[in-house]
Amino acid sequence: MLVAIEGLDGSGKSTIIKALSKILRKRGLNVFITSEPTDGPIGKIIKQYLAKENRSRDIRMEALLFAADRIWHVNNVIKPMLEKGGIVITDRYKYSSLAYQAMSSKDEKWVEEINKFVPEANLAFFIDVTPENCIKRLNLSKRKKSIMENLKNLKKVYERYLKLVKRGKLIRINGEKDVQSISGEIAWFILEKLS
Ligand code: TYD
Repeated sequence: MLVAIEGLDGSGKSTIIKALSKILRKRGLNVFITSEPTDGPIGKIIKQYLAKENRSRDIRMEALLFAADRIWHVNNVIKPMLEKGGIVITDRYKYSSLAYQAMSSKDEKWVEEINKFVPEANLAFFIDVTPENCIKRLNLSKRKKSIMENLKNLKKVYERYLKLVKRGKLIRINGEKDVQSISGEIAWFILEKLS
């Protein structure tokens, strides 16, 4: 089963994924964790690009890179993990591209198109933390602020995530609760789907 965890930068995805995998492993399930951008050849290029503070953004180039990295991810990481049996949890998947790279409705269709070569997740969650709170958390954790993390951009990304929730692509999880409740809620959906 492929599970995708989505959310804004600063929404706590990685902490939630750790807690979630603990819960699932306690139940005797085989859990694999992975993330995007990957450490593969294209993922490395993306990470270099994201690390540049004052880069000029070309959203279509980004979309193509993320989509290519995702195909690499599925072929080299996700598929082999799924073949071992168990649950693969990915920190970000194609829904990130739909939220971050689909600026206009015309682009939205195109972003979907270039991502159609990878399967949908069996379950995909949106950890809902408001852009304002994400910014607060990012500042608190003294992380380097990237262009993608400024409030105006985050608000747009947030709206597009909510649209994906409305379309039934993502399950909304209240991310303002404590980590245990959040991961417990997600685990419930996964266990329900498995039974
Ligand atoms: P991520 O590694 O999740 O960020 P963090 O540093 O919080 O762990 O993702 C890095 C950035 O890449 C993040 O700002 C979101 C962006 N991104 C996209 O814009 N599109 C995509 O398809 C993906 C996978 C990530």
